Amino acid sequence: MKSLVLLLFVVGAGAKVFERCAWARLLKESGMDGYRGVSLANWVCLTKHESNFNTSSVNHNRDRSTDYGIFQINSRWWCDDAQTPTANGCNIPCSALLTDNVAIAINCAKRVVRDPSGIAAWVAWRVHCKNKDVSSYISGCKL
Ligand SMILES: *[C@@H]1O[C@H](CO)[C@@H](O)[C@H](O)[C@H]1NC(C)=O
Repeated sequence: MKSLVLLLFVVGAGAKVFERCAWARLLKESGMDGYRGVSLANWVCLTKHESNFNTSSVNHNRDRSTDYGIFQINSRWWCDDAQTPTANGCNIPCSALLTDNVAIAINCAKRVVRDPSGIAAWVAWRVHCKNKDVSSYISGCKL
């Protein structure tokens, strides 16, 4: 019983998997709809294919950098994981991208999209969302 309580505590403190429309609403409230010309449906499409809306997603790249969190933000350029030499453009530890406090991840995604390559920085966006009808990603959501 003690270990169950501990497990629930650890899970509750860290991870969160968002329901699609709840995530879309939060993105909208955070000023992401139209941010740098990127529509809300494109942000939802991007995060669906990067992390399946899972804040604890971690994926290792062939160049030995790592992508963190719901936006899969890269440790070489944007955050510091004490493993990859980093520019740390968002000025944060990568672990801050894995908590259920997604304000940090959203702010960092805004920083990423302000770079010249914009939304095209995300491979999953280029593969799954670019030049596609992405309206289904926010359809049925009360926004
Ligand atoms: C979220 O990602 C973590 C880390 O990869 C994984 O352990 C967990 O099962 C995922 N949650 C869901 C609901 O897919």
